[in-house]
Amino acid sequence: MTTVPEFQTSPGMRDILPPESARWRRFVEVFAQVAESAGYGQVLSPLLEDLGVFQRIGDATDVVSKEMYDFVDKGGRHIALRPELTASICRAFVQHNPQMPWKIWYSGSMFRYEKPQRGRYRQFDQVGIEVLGADDPNLDVEIIALGWEFYAALGLQQVKLILNSLGEPDDRARYVQALKAYFEANLEELSPESRVTLEKNPLRVLDSKRPQDAALVAAAPRIAEFYSEQAAAHFAAVQAGLTALDIPFTVEPKLVRGLDYYRHTTFEYQGGTLDSAQNALGGGGRYDGLVEALGGKPTAGVGFALGLDRTLLACDDEGVFAPPSTAVDVFVVDTTGGAEALALTAQLRRAGLRADRAYENRSMKSQMKAADRSGAAIALIVGSNELEAGTVVVRPLRAEQVGDDTQSGQSVVARTDLLSHLTKVMS
Ligand code: HAM
Repeated sequence: MTTVPEFQTSPGMRDILPPESARWRRFVEVFAQVAESAGYGQVLSPLLEDLGVFQRIGDATDVVSKEMYDFVDKGGRHIALRPELTASICRAFVQHNPQMPWKIWYSGSMFRYEKPQRGRYRQFDQVGIEVLGADDPNLDVEIIALGWEFYAALGLQQVKLILNSLGEPDDRARYVQALKAYFEANLEELSPESRVTLEKNPLRVLDSKRPQDAALVAAAPRIAEFYSEQAAAHFAAVQAGLTALDIPFTVEPKLVRGLDYYRHTTFEYQGGTLDSAQNALGGGGRYDGLVEALGGKPTAGVGFALGLDRTLLACDDEGVFAPPSTAVDVFVVDTTGGAEALALTAQLRRAGLRADRAYENRSMKSQMKAADRSGAAIALIVGSNELEAGTVVVRPLRAEQVGDDTQSGQSVVARTDLLSHLTKVMS
């Protein structure tokens, strides 16, 4: 009978164990390469912010009104665990007043009190980029292309890019009004849940996946009918840029996204293998008013965040981006008490090799088993004979190195020649 431990992770929170944790780190490294190759610098910002920072996103979104982890700290400040990083980055921009355009990338954990399910967690990780201080449709294209390139670097093939524009704030306001009037005129046909959404945020009714709403949503007014000349030109330039870069996309007029700060371009990368409720691998858009809402001067902003957890699920489904090897290079087996293993592993590690060993002075057989499990290519064996002679037995462990007989191919090497011997063998 297995006993249930007294303490376990809270719902929607997970321990990421090796080797999966190595994959998480690699994910961020690949993203950093993509972002830094385009001139983006990393920002590390706190997990906690003044609650007000996130309230400025707008309280019409569930992320702000229902899902925030917030508390009053010992100094009486009302604090929140960050549910996303765009608002934090805008807060940092106002606080530090950096040179524009400010091109930054980030990675880290976000917290949202959501109903946990596959691909939806209460603590999840994002990588993202933001640019503040440049209102150029080419920048929207650059950003969308960087996300696209990143998915390609992971090996994902089934990612779809969905694109929309919400126009200028005035266009959006007129559209919201028209949408509200339209749904109100057809209230009887609308699902009870969408009627509640309509009260708070008519745009979000377009997100409804309920069959009862499908026909009404399909026939709803389209945002494109409300674009100003400038908004239409911006959107056309974004589409032309993506076409020029050979990035395929679908314009989806119903794409409004969950956060409320978007203007002009919005986009989402959707995974081909995930359940439709959780298929957004990442998304973003323009948020030209957010810096101002946080007390700064009017400043253009555009960026995206990509969900790490969900993207890795998509990688599993597509069989790409396997965990990198965390195996050591060599494993030291010492049957003389352990002091040799201590000295030898330290020497090897200083020389830049990945080296592990067994502990507790176990038998030769038990230590060789541990060496096998470690994934090391080579075992270095020190018994009393070797200790006396100042030598080490170098034994290849992988079948492909020595054929089927793992005993063969071993050599006895003087301790003084060990490093140069290993360098030769391992290359
Ligand atoms: P978001 O759409 O809320 O946008 O989140 C971006 C991505 O984070 C989602 O597409 C999804 O992959 C992942 N994600 C969100 N919630 C969860 C969850 N509960 N569990 C697992 N993954 C999740 C933003 O956060 C904006 N800040 C993006 C942005 C940046 N817009 C402009 N700049």
